[in-house]
Amino acid sequence: MAVNLLLISSFLFLQQFSAIAQTNGNITVGGFLSAAENSSSWISPSGDFAFGFRPIESSDELFLLSIWYDRIPSKTIVWFANREKPAPKGSRVELTSDSGLVLRSPQGDELWKSDPIRGTVVSGVMSNTGNFELYSSSSDKAWDSFRNPADTMLPSQTLESGELLSSKLSATNFSTGRFRMRMRPEGNLVLNTINLPTDSTNDPYYDTETTNASSSGERVVFNESGYFYLLLSNDRRYPLTSRSIHPSAKDFYYRATINFDGVFTLYQHPKNSSNEGWTALWSIPDNICKASFTGIGSGTCGFNSFCRLNPGDNRPICDCPKGYFLSDAKNKYGDCKPNFTQSCADDEEGSPADLYDFEEVINTDWPTSDYALLQPFTEQQCRESCLQDCMCAVAIFRTGDMCWKKKLPLSNGRFDNTLDGKALIKITKGNPPSRGDPVLPRSFMKNQKNKDNMIIVGSVLLGGSVFFNVILVTAVCLCFFLVHKKVHRQIPHHDEAVETNLRCFTYKELEEATDGFKEELGKGSFGIVYKGLIQMSYVTPVAVKKLNSLVPDTEKEFKTEVNVIGQTHHKNLVRLIGFCDDGVHRLLVYEFLSNGTLASFLFGESKPRWSQRTQIAFGIARGLLYLHEECSTQIIHCDIKPQNILLDDYYTARISDFGLAKLLMLGQSYTHTNIRGTKGYVAPEWFRNLPITVKVDVFSFGVLLLEIICCRRNVNMEVSGAEALLTDWVYDCYCEERLDDLVEFDKEALNDKNKVERFVMVALWCIQEDPSLRPTMRKVTQMLEGVVEVPVPSCPCPFTMTN
Ligand SMILES: *[C@@H]1O[C@H](CO)[C@@H](O)[C@H](O)[C@H]1NC(C)=O
Ligand SMILES: *[C@@H]1O[C@H](CO)[C@@H](O)[C@H](O)[C@H]1NC(C)=O
Ligand SMILES: *[C@@H]1O[C@H](CO)[C@@H](O)[C@H](O)[C@H]1NC(C)=O
Ligand SMILES: *[C@@H]1O[C@H](CO)[C@@H](O)[C@H](O)[C@H]1NC(C)=O
Repeated sequence: MAVNLLLISSFLFLQQFSAIAQTNGNITVGGFLSAAENSSSWISPSGDFAFGFRPIESSDELFLLSIWYDRIPSKTIVWFANREKPAPKGSRVELTSDSGLVLRSPQGDELWKSDPIRGTVVSGVMSNTGNFELYSSSSDKAWDSFRNPADTMLPSQTLESGELLSSKLSATNFSTGRFRMRMRPEGNLVLNTINLPTDSTNDPYYDTETTNASSSGERVVFNESGYFYLLLSNDRRYPLTSRSIHPSAKDFYYRATINFDGVFTLYQHPKNSSNEGWTALWSIPDNICKASFTGIGSGTCGFNSFCRLNPGDNRPICDCPKGYFLSDAKNKYGDCKPNFTQSCADDEEGSPADLYDFEEVINTDWPTSDYALLQPFTEQQCRESCLQDCMCAVAIFRTGDMCWKKKLPLSNGRFDNTLDGKALIKITKGNPPSRGDPVLPRSFMKNQKNKDNMIIVGSVLLGGSVFFNVILVTAVCLCFFLVHKKVHRQIPHHDEAVETNLRCFTYKELEEATDGFKEELGKGSFGIVYKGLIQMSYVTPVAVKKLNSLVPDTEKEFKTEVNVIGQTHHKNLVRLIGFCDDGVHRLLVYEFLSNGTLASFLFGESKPRWSQRTQIAFGIARGLLYLHEECSTQIIHCDIKPQNILLDDYYTARISDFGLAKLLMLGQSYTHTNIRGTKGYVAPEWFRNLPITVKVDVFSFGVLLLEIICCRRNVNMEVSGAEALLTDWVYDCYCEERLDDLVEFDKEALNDKNKVERFVMVALWCIQEDPSLRPTMRKVTQMLEGVVEVPVPSCPCPFTMTN
């Protein structure tokens, strides 16, 4: 060990004078670092932090003077100096006595310096807390990076009155962005936007409002155990992070960053794991999409864009509405432009009704772009009024009689499931395809090139002599013939698939679409699901499911079953786009849904709202009803569980994996012992050699419904005794009239007791041991909706869990 250290230090000594300082983090005046690939850095005694140059992404010619976590693979940058003036290769930072750190380009131009300096600097140190400190001759601090933060705070760092953090411009661009966090002299901590390129500040979108004279905020403290609080003038603490975060500081690195999208997030990273990244622990504001950006500015997304919250990390996702495209295709968080201009001049050709139409989007709003409110108004009147009004870009119709007319640019766009209404977005008729520039997978680039070649062939044809043309035409035809033939040989099943509108893919196509099955979305009992991109009328993200363990020699049945699945169309089912069947490989291609599974939504960090949960329950019930009674061939799902329910952009529940049970049991009968469901959701008849009917799904739905009501898993071993099994616990609570316990702390549900009780009673009927006692899904939907009375359920027990 000691020998190693010696070796390393002598090696570094040989390399460069500046590297001597690395051993104890102490740098004396005259020490310097140069900007170059693999240049050395000043490392803290613990080895956790490093100070030096980092190449700016996408360029090894420009460098950023920065401090980073040196022991983790991502080498996350926590402080940076020259954000507006990247340093060219060969730039040098030197420790000087009168200006502290000075960064100069190879030509000698000053790019940045530590400022202001108190006294005369004699030494600098990269400390173990991540603070780079300069000391004067009297051993006082002359300057430190904690007092001059960039976008990040580290444990033990404070933000004093008047200090601020300023976000990056984008994930990869370190220039000054729009978002700031500032400790105001009046005592409140605020987040606000500025109007670039100036500093002019807009009203805060987050404010602690701690300006009370006797207890105003003095500073923000990020203490060593990862807690955030405001220290008030009366020495009390105003907590920012919730008490439920129990960080064990020894095992984790922390940082808190104002992200380029305006969310201030506290992250942790395990010290000893290389494959886990930063996890978000806490953030403000709660929902950036709904934060009150008032007055000037676009909100977190650009103008004409709209925002959805990613529940995983509380960060926004921005989208352009239909008929709009990104101004800068590379910046998803930027402005959107309409793909047409509405003119108010008299010379428009045709009536508005001929030119324009509306795209309907539910629960979407741009709350700060109104210019008129019409009330009471019907939806039809609202449409007509916006259609005839050349200033109207969007009309929001809500609460059954309000019509808000909106003008461009639309700002603060958001998905808002409490809106109780919809946006009517004006688009041109015969709507040209979206001009956003999606990234095409390689294979489609190739196709694109082929097309271009054909155009060239065409122009040559038109330009050459007659004789030459005849020869050329012959040659081209011959080529086409050969290519055509070859394609047909490659895809033998092509013709047989024509009977449905499903697309038949080759294995190779799907391999390319998923970039070699690179990004795994999930694993199920039926196989692994990968993300991919395929070219339809536009590039579409898809989920490709590789089925495992199919019975061989069942090609015909496979086709039949896939066709059955392909013929289902319901808004609560995941749509099948196509399949691949080349004997060995069987894959299904589904539409990709952005909001993940119901499992992660229900059992994640923050509970979804009661109203949203009830909508999801209705959706699943309707989807199952369709599978059981309304599609051309009855489909029993056999594996209803929260992992098999996906959520689309609007958090509508969509059932996935239906039809697969049959597919995987080709050649077997349902009573053939092989239990298909998932422990905890499986109906008792699977173990009893009873016939398998649609009632197995009703049972699983009952369990799922209880999970939706209580936001907890069916089996929870962390809870003691009777509460461990959700079904038992709910029945006990129901009998003892303690339903409030089920939705503890959930105000919205507590205020909706009738519905909670109705849902619980329906669920108890669904999980009856005797299948014939369980209601049909039609009855279930009617009972959930309150259309028919729910009789008092009997005890679903005794049922024994034999698996
Ligand atoms: C750094 O080195 C200087 C000179 O050797 C010394 O005076 C100073 O105390 C050292 N500082 C730290 C923090 O070790
Ligand atoms: C930098 O380091 C990497 C990995 O050690 C090496 O492959 C590369 O050649 C180095 N570059 C220079 C300019 O020394
Ligand atoms: C960052 O964005 C600014 C402003 O748009 C631009 O001038 C600069 O070139 C960008 N920097 C990099 C490294 O892309
Ligand atoms: C950090 O603050 C929390 C909450 O106020 C407190 O419980 C904890 O002891 C503090 N840790 C340190 C190291 O001061």
